[in-house]
Amino acid sequence: MKRIVVFSGAGLSAESGIPTFRDSDGLWEQHRIEDVASPDGWQRDPELVLDFYGKRFQKMNLVQPNAAHYALAELQKKFDVINITQNIDTLLEQAGAKNVWHLHGRLDTAKCEFHHEIFGYQPTHRCDFKTLISKPIALGDTCPKCGGRLRPDVVWFGESVDMRQPYLEELIDTASVFIGVGTSAQVYPAAGLLTLFADTEQKYFIDPNPAYGALYGFSVLEGKASVKLPELAKQLLGSAN
Ligand code: OAD
Repeated sequence: MKRIVVFSGAGLSAESGIPTFRDSDGLWEQHRIEDVASPDGWQRDPELVLDFYGKRFQKMNLVQPNAAHYALAELQKKFDVINITQNIDTLLEQAGAKNVWHLHGRLDTAKCEFHHEIFGYQPTHRCDFKTLISKPIALGDTCPKCGGRLRPDVVWFGESVDMRQPYLEELIDTASVFIGVGTSAQVYPAAGLLTLFADTEQKYFIDPNPAYGALYGFSVLEGKASVKLPELAKQLLGSAN
């Protein structure tokens, strides 16, 4: 079975009603990254941070996957599909995607504030506690293992992203198709995947504003994910043995 690696960003979930970050009216026009998505912001005002992610959590539970998520699930009929997503929503899973790697964490889990490696901030200890949540994290929720505060299981700016070596290397070596979709490719190390998969046989980039795809020699499919991904999935499924 041929392997397809899909690297997605906020544009994948935009048509479900989840705002992107950098489009006009995007989340980062309404919130300062350093206030809601950084270890310093958490230390300064945890209530603001929990409110920000609590709203994201509630929104996720109000919306549905769109045609793009379903197209990626459909590809599993004939391909080994690995989704590497920057999105913290779980719409891919809700659409039936089996193999989803959330590079920047996910909204339906919480972790102990001492869980992660944080640059420039020395936690007093390490604690690996994570838990599934069915409601937003509240101020005062604590880790049952060590008593630290529970925080969103999201990778903030200034924190390290687990690039899962040597698994990533294996994906690079074995992917026959790579699809980049709905990302401005501005945040590293995630955006580096577009170059790491440079030697993949077939490479596509889907975005209504595909500033980055052409640069890396992708077949650029300019348009919305909900239109272009089902079209591409149909083409790939049609040509699969
Ligand atoms: P951005 O908001 O930076 O980029 C969204 C991309 O989606 C843009 O290229 C849009 O043109 C595209 N887009 C908008 N509507 C679309 C649609 N209907 N179909 C397809 N594409 C569409 O979001 P990301 O690239 O995901 O990280 O941002 C990367 C990271 O920056 C996020 O994971 C988040 C953020 O800061 C953290 O919070 C750690």
